[in-house]
Amino acid sequence: MYSKLFIFIMVLSTCLTANADIENGKKLYDTANCARCHSSDIFTDEERAVKSYEKLVDRIEWCAIYQESGWNEKEIMDVIKFLNKNYYKYPVTK
Ligand code: HEC
Repeated sequence: MYSKLFIFIMVLSTCLTANADIENGKKLYDTANCARCHSSDIFTDEERAVKSYEKLVDRIEWCAIYQESGWNEKEIMDVIKFLNKNYYKYPVTK
């Protein structure tokens, strides 16, 4: 009985944390002026260059540096999670 409750709470808190990361990623993205070089249209373009979650991570790490976003590793990951959830929908591998 208690162990089931425990598992339920663990699962619930994992979901909540994931959502908090995505919310934070959205906030960071919205305030970073990423559209200075490209609009968010390129995330949905048929011809987009990013074909996997790994490529998405590489690209955003690169862009975040160019944007001089000042984001730390955790913040970059939050933005990656947000863009992946909203546009790319690749299976998350890291
Ligand atoms: C200095 C200019 C510049 C800035 C600022 C910039 N990017 Fe980029 N970004 C690029 C270039 C160049 C590409 C490659 C475009 C292409 O492949 O056609 C790109 C591509 C991307 C892609 C991949 C698009 C695809 O092909 O699916 C993502 C995701 C992305 N940028 C996210 C961001 C985010 C998030 C920010 C804000 C932190 C940002 N970019 C800021 C230059 C920039």
